[in-house]
Amino acid sequence: MARPSNVFVCQACGSTSPKWFGRCPDCRTWGSLIEEKRGGDDRGQASPPRSPVPVTDVPADFAERIPSGFSELDRVLGGGMVPGSVILLGGDPGIGKSTLLLQVLARMAASGTRVLYVTAEESLRQVGLRAERVNAGSPELLILSETDFGSAAATAAEISPTALVLDSVQALFSQDIGSAPGTISQVREIAARAVTLAKEREIVTWLVGHVTKEGAIAGPKALEHMVDTVLYFEGDSSHAYRMVRSVKNRFGAANELAFLEMTGQGLVQLEDPAGLFLPTAGRPSPGSVVVMGLEGSRPLLVEVQALVAQTPFPNPRRTVSGSELSRVLLILAVLDKRARIRTGSLDVFVNVAGGLQLTEPAADLGIALSIVSSIMDKTVPRTTALCGEIGLSGEIRPVPRLEGRLKEALRLGLKRAIVPAPGNGKLPAVAGMEILPVETIEDAIQILFR
Ligand code: TYD
Ligand code: MG
Repeated sequence: MARPSNVFVCQACGSTSPKWFGRCPDCRTWGSLIEEKRGGDDRGQASPPRSPVPVTDVPADFAERIPSGFSELDRVLGGGMVPGSVILLGGDPGIGKSTLLLQVLARMAASGTRVLYVTAEESLRQVGLRAERVNAGSPELLILSETDFGSAAATAAEISPTALVLDSVQALFSQDIGSAPGTISQVREIAARAVTLAKEREIVTWLVGHVTKEGAIAGPKALEHMVDTVLYFEGDSSHAYRMVRSVKNRFGAANELAFLEMTGQGLVQLEDPAGLFLPTAGRPSPGSVVVMGLEGSRPLLVEVQALVAQTPFPNPRRTVSGSELSRVLLILAVLDKRARIRTGSLDVFVNVAGGLQLTEPAADLGIALSIVSSIMDKTVPRTTALCGEIGLSGEIRPVPRLEGRLKEALRLGLKRAIVPAPGNGKLPAVAGMEILPVETIEDAIQILFR
């Protein structure tokens, strides 16, 4: 029997309480409690006991991987899709989630695999239009327009497709839960039932989740622990380049990145993205430097730009895109303290090319020198690349996989690299590349500008 009383569920952290509070007692978020009906009555049923098996009889591998039709996406997935796995694809609305998954299903269908795309958000006609744009014309690709998860799951169980897309988890609802679609209880229930269906029928299941305006609330974050793999679509929709990053992967390495480009015929993968984020040809300008970054296991050369100017305001501005504000503030403090470069009355803008997020500390040195370059109004040659983490006392710390970064820089035509002095005194030798080790931020400024 379902209990009639309702509960109040925090939409931010999912905790429940019998009473309404203005502020969640658990996560302290204001105004996040919403009244929801208690769950259905089918939860109490015990399933029949199963026998455990000796660990030696458990298969140790996932025999076959299913290709997605995008080799770059397969790489991010750890070598393709694992049968019965549940993959969450999160991202901002409009970034290209539906497009990508329709293309994946279309490519699977083209090789004779039966696949099902459940659209809960858009009409059949809208999906049809997109299918035409991306050239998805195979009878093995089935489209179902449905918002009731139970009904979609029944169809999926009957058809037993190799892959299933649920677009989106926020637009589907389960009749067992009283609350509105998109609430945290609904979203979690849909995900939990999708996981059960995927495991029982060995269906690769893709859950599409919009990152909501408020951030994590009832968005993909709330589901990350329930699924096998979590991918996020990155990049902003004003750029054609898009990145798909693995944030969690039970079947492969996390933090791998696939590069895609949005075209008039859907998404196209970029197999050699290393040079895409380099500065365009022409004369170098002050404030622009090239960073030897690393994305997942792949080196990537990226232009970082800074603009530093006298502020017209009492409080100078710090605007950062593509890196973290706190990181830039730390770099400014180190420049002030250790290199006597003062920015207290200057506006500082930092921008990473192409909508890329450079989150690794190895980008510190590049960010610092782009700022110094702009302040001094002196250029850094386009053939010079940098990497290094900056410590609080202005020391330059080693970065992982230096040799890989240097080789990539050489391959893309760079000639000189400023790198952290190695602790053990051994620099990688890369023929054709002039490698200048630095111990402090001041050393690097000396080499480039003084
Ligand atoms: P969409 O996949 O609907 O995004 P999401 O499902 O993440 O909300 O597509 C987003 C954008 O891509 C949309 O603005 C239209 C554009 N687009 C193209 O530029 N080319 C195409 O071939 C398609 C299908 C979409
Ligand atoms: Mg969509």
